[in-house]
Amino acid sequence: MPIGIFDSGYGGLTILKEIRKRMPQYDYLYLGDNARTPYGSRSFDIVYDFTLQAVKELFARGCHLVILACNTASAKALRSIQQNDLPMIDPSRRVLGVIRPTIEVLPSLSTSHHIGLLATPGTVASHSYRMELEKMAPGMAITELACPMWVPLVENNEANSPGADYFVKKYIDQLIEADPEIDTIVLGCTHYPILMPKIKEFAPAGIKVVAQGSLVAESLADYLRRHPEIECKCEKNHGMTFLTTESSEKFDSLASMFMDCPVESRRVTLPS
Ligand code: DGL
Repeated sequence: MPIGIFDSGYGGLTILKEIRKRMPQYDYLYLGDNARTPYGSRSFDIVYDFTLQAVKELFARGCHLVILACNTASAKALRSIQQNDLPMIDPSRRVLGVIRPTIEVLPSLSTSHHIGLLATPGTVASHSYRMELEKMAPGMAITELACPMWVPLVENNEANSPGADYFVKKYIDQLIEADPEIDTIVLGCTHYPILMPKIKEFAPAGIKVVAQGSLVAESLADYLRRHPEIECKCEKNHGMTFLTTESSEKFDSLASMFMDCPVESRRVTLPS
């Protein structure tokens, strides 16, 4: 059974890449809902419906463990799926998100204890990061800012274009202006690491920019160590399979670039 990795589009590839680097032995099945991206500006109910459809598709294709490699889905759908849907679908299967593994390391990264979060409008409106951080490290300050233009830049292959400069600089300037004591910027959307060269260019010197991939990979490795009953269901043939809800030609050319290896996907339609 492969480990399922889901995102609204290409963003989850930044997570898959790091997970695969950390644990190349497993089989992975990636699903990008590129036809319906972005999720970040959609309502709670729609993100939940779309995410549940994707999880069911990955379950139907044999995954026992699915990672929501999408902060918006993790913020808006993960808890309902874990608490309400999984017990009915199959209590032995697992769905995990990307927010908790990120929050866990934040207290050790920031010296000023002022964190900046850049994420989609949906993740910011959910305040999932603020609420989780308050539980884990009550003294820390977090400033959350939505970057609604960043996912479209990535999905439309404009991440390296001169046009991207304006929007990357705009949101970073806004964040630092809102709290000049920020010393750590968290990229709370899995698409954003694709903009990393530009983000680093415009972030003030000395500020750490944190991408989630390696954090999620480490946390998954730890999870599999602690759950041998799930680990033993994960096949180990070093395989990667890709599914997209958009055209596979379009997906393959961009995904190959983001993964630094040839990608051949198949198109799927998610049953509602
Ligand atoms: N990659 C997703 C995330 O981490 C969301 C992108 C979107 O808006 O669809 O939030």
